[in-house]
Amino acid sequence: MNTLTKFALGVMGQLRPRPPTGDAAACIDLPAPEKRGGMPLMDALARRCSTRAFSSAEIALPMLSDMLWSAFGVNRADGGRTAPSALNAQEIEVFVALPGGAYRFDAVSHQLQLVAGADLRRVTGYQDFVDEAPLDLVYVADHKRLRMVPAAQREAYAYAAAGAIAQNVYLYAAGNALATVIRAWIDRDAIAGALGLSPDQQVLLSQTVGLPKG
Ligand SMILES: Cc1cc2nc3c(=O)[nH]c(=O)nc-3n(C[C@H](O)[C@H](O)[C@H](O)COP(=O)(O)O)c2cc1C
Repeated sequence: MNTLTKFALGVMGQLRPRPPTGDAAACIDLPAPEKRGGMPLMDALARRCSTRAFSSAEIALPMLSDMLWSAFGVNRADGGRTAPSALNAQEIEVFVALPGGAYRFDAVSHQLQLVAGADLRRVTGYQDFVDEAPLDLVYVADHKRLRMVPAAQREAYAYAAAGAIAQNVYLYAAGNALATVIRAWIDRDAIAGALGLSPDQQVLLSQTVGLPKG
């Protein structure tokens, strides 16, 4: 669907999911992530960029596992994560919109847990490439976990935390020949409805990931 059509549907509150491709598994066990090696950090930084042309080829499960662990996985015995959060609130939930369904990334069990048995990719943004790229991430703040932060600062802190996660994904992508772009031009109400979020959960940003087109 082109951007203009998507935007018009969004204005009318009609940006809707598509049926899933295949059966949506209730839970996807991600393989153990490869936590060693990879491209040197300075090389990955030198390659980091936003890309907006994606192949529709799916990302293999081991790569998805590594990417999600890089994004916001558990990297220490005490439950610490690969990205920082104010007071270690760990308030960001990472959702993954795949052709077969929309999932919440559970960092502790390193699993994807089904939240919607539909293809939500087209709902995650107005730009046309989000429909066809193999996955779109959605970063959501759970305000229940931010009660120790003064109310006026909660949203800013959550955006900062989501930004750190997004940069982890950018660096993983740069190091593994993937394309990605973080996106704020999104219909937050449509996404919240499609994911079935509670009033405590705030949609912040989305990020498309996939193989580069061509
Ligand atoms: C908070 C934020 C929101 C963004 N929103 C969008 C967006 O909605 N759509 C898009 O295509 N790019 C978006 N971008 C990507 C920027 O356009 C991109 O980072 C910028 O042009 C610099 O390019 P580079 O990332 O390749 O260095 C966003 C970036 C940030 C940090």
